[in-house]
Amino acid sequence: MRLGLLASGRGSNADAILRAIDDGRLEAEACLLICDRPAEALAVAERHGVPVRLMTRAEYPDRTAQQAAMREALVEAGVELVALAGFAAVLEPVMVDAFAERILNIHPSLLPAFAGTVAPEPQAAALRAGVKLAGCTVHVVTNEVDAGPIVAQAAVPVLPDDTVASLAARILVEEHRLYPQVLSWFAQGRVRIVDGIAHVGDGR
Ligand code: GRF
Repeated sequence: MRLGLLASGRGSNADAILRAIDDGRLEAEACLLICDRPAEALAVAERHGVPVRLMTRAEYPDRTAQQAAMREALVEAGVELVALAGFAAVLEPVMVDAFAERILNIHPSLLPAFAGTVAPEPQAAALRAGVKLAGCTVHVVTNEVDAGPIVAQAAVPVLPDDTVASLAARILVEEHRLYPQVLSWFAQGRVRIVDGIAHVGDGR
């Protein structure tokens, strides 16, 4: 599976995915990582020998043009599946429709709770709501933000003394386990989406 990554931040999920590829746990080739801002994720990808592109919003007339250029770069690199790994911008139809059902995102909440914002706001919202379980969700990206088919989730307890940082750190451990696992299911052709619901089969 030829994988593309989009990132905007520190790149710890990108690192977890690329480590899984390096270790042979994920049968994929990381073809390109694109950042929309100068971010640590660029150095993470370079450490793994993955080609990178920096394509900032300021270089294009609008976000649609920026994402159209990103799409072209992904297509040129022969990317089959795109993983958003801490990508902070909402994807435009120009990207989503070109890779329909082939873009995944990880969100640091148990969706559909606390959708529509980026880290650390979902974790902060979980604390404010007083929920006793928090977690992360890997979902297929559609044109509705954080609302595409849920492929997998992992839950963690919310502890009485939690801060946003301590809860986010507990969730992040699960993110780093879950995202490579879900990508390996895609690489094995085990995920089917029927009527907006993702089903994970045994690969036969
Ligand atoms: C993670 O919390 C992820 O769930 C969210 O953004 C954050 C990215 O962190 N989408 P990193 O850049 O992968 O370290």
